[in-house]
Amino acid sequence: MGMNTEILIESHNSQASRVIIGHHVLEDWPWSSWLAHDGGVLVVVDPQVQPQMEALFHELRTEKKFVTVLTRTISEHDKTLETVAGLYQDFGENRVTRDTLIMAVGGGVLTDVTGYAAATYLRGLRWAAVPTTLLAQVDAAIGGKVAVNTHFGKNLVGAFHLPAIVAIDTKLLTSLPLREWRAGLGEVIKSALIAGGTLYDRVKQSQEPLGEMTPGWAHIIAETAQLKAEIVQADLYEKDQRMFLNFGHTAAHALENYFGYGTLSHGEAVGLGCLVALYLSERLLGLNDTVRAELKTWLMRWGLPTVANQFDPASLMNIMLQDKKARSYGLQWVLLEEIGKPRVIREIDPNLVMMALGSLGLRA
Ligand SMILES: NC(=O)c1ccc[n+]([C@@H]2O[C@H](COP(=O)([O-])OP(=O)(O)OC[C@H]3O[C@@H](n4cnc5c(N)ncnc54)[C@H](O)[C@@H]3O)[C@@H](O)[C@H]2O)c1
Ligand SMILES: [Zn+2]
Repeated sequence: MGMNTEILIESHNSQASRVIIGHHVLEDWPWSSWLAHDGGVLVVVDPQVQPQMEALFHELRTEKKFVTVLTRTISEHDKTLETVAGLYQDFGENRVTRDTLIMAVGGGVLTDVTGYAAATYLRGLRWAAVPTTLLAQVDAAIGGKVAVNTHFGKNLVGAFHLPAIVAIDTKLLTSLPLREWRAGLGEVIKSALIAGGTLYDRVKQSQEPLGEMTPGWAHIIAETAQLKAEIVQADLYEKDQRMFLNFGHTAAHALENYFGYGTLSHGEAVGLGCLVALYLSERLLGLNDTVRAELKTWLMRWGLPTVANQFDPASLMNIMLQDKKARSYGLQWVLLEEIGKPRVIREIDPNLVMMALGSLGLRA
């Protein structure tokens, strides 16, 4: 399925992150040359994908590399400092040193938690991310943000710690359940709208069956991941461009919070959040309403909701205002002037926001 794509993300403090994307990345990547002479690798792997990883572990072992494999199921509920403390214990027991490469193989929860442990143990260890969900492949594993939750909210304790390698092997998604597939589609849709160009055309014309890894999906994933890597490279510390990646997320976060995390998947919430952002873009930036109509056809094609029934826009508005209080810069919206032309808008008339949220309840 084509060549591997490679993008380098560089930061000021001489960290660099090599993002490689393709259908044979795990086999093609010269892993053993990346391991220090006697440092070896400690792998934290999700049991769902461990069978697909055994060949690589075996290869490293036959090259006399020291490989420790920890199989861990880490759900959003366990995305905590307690779980990180458990990993520190594992690192100690397995004699992790400054030369050990930590490899995180799993969804966004596992890469966030393991990445945070790697960022903090011995004041920062080299790590590699091998994302295995759609969401992690196009978003979570790229860009060096690692974090855990506290009782007060998601991702409140974290760090910027770029993985030395992000190996995005689309083959690993073969076993991904449909629900998890949909959870990552919000990011694909958002990226197509803010990027425009070939990614937009590909998503628009896509006839790919959900849940089946095809060459068409491999292209969409590669281009979405590449977009994230390029934006992160241009703006590592989220001063300007990286904010564009929040397109659809201002309303999505409020919707997830209102309906309860887990009721609405992140992808479903982002799909609806993009509809809200497009409604506002029409009113404030004169965006053509055909874009919103097009987005609805994508959502329907992929089995994502286009309406949110039985909700009260005023309560949603309250959740947003709480969010606003929590941020020094107020509530930010990313809107579109045109497809592929995002803009950050800081304050929007609450009445207009209420109307935009209300539009989710209408079947048009
Ligand atoms: N660091 C960032 O920049 C960033 C960005 C976006 C999201 N995130 C975080 O990502 C997390 C969500 O990640 P997620 O959507 O990947 O969920 P997840 O990590 O919970 O994985 C979802 C489920 O898929 C299973 N799974 C993983 N790979 C599989 C495979 N190949 N086949 C079958 N099952 C598989 C897992 O066991 C799990 O049950 C959130 O905590 C979010 O905060 C981080
Ligand atoms: Zn998202």
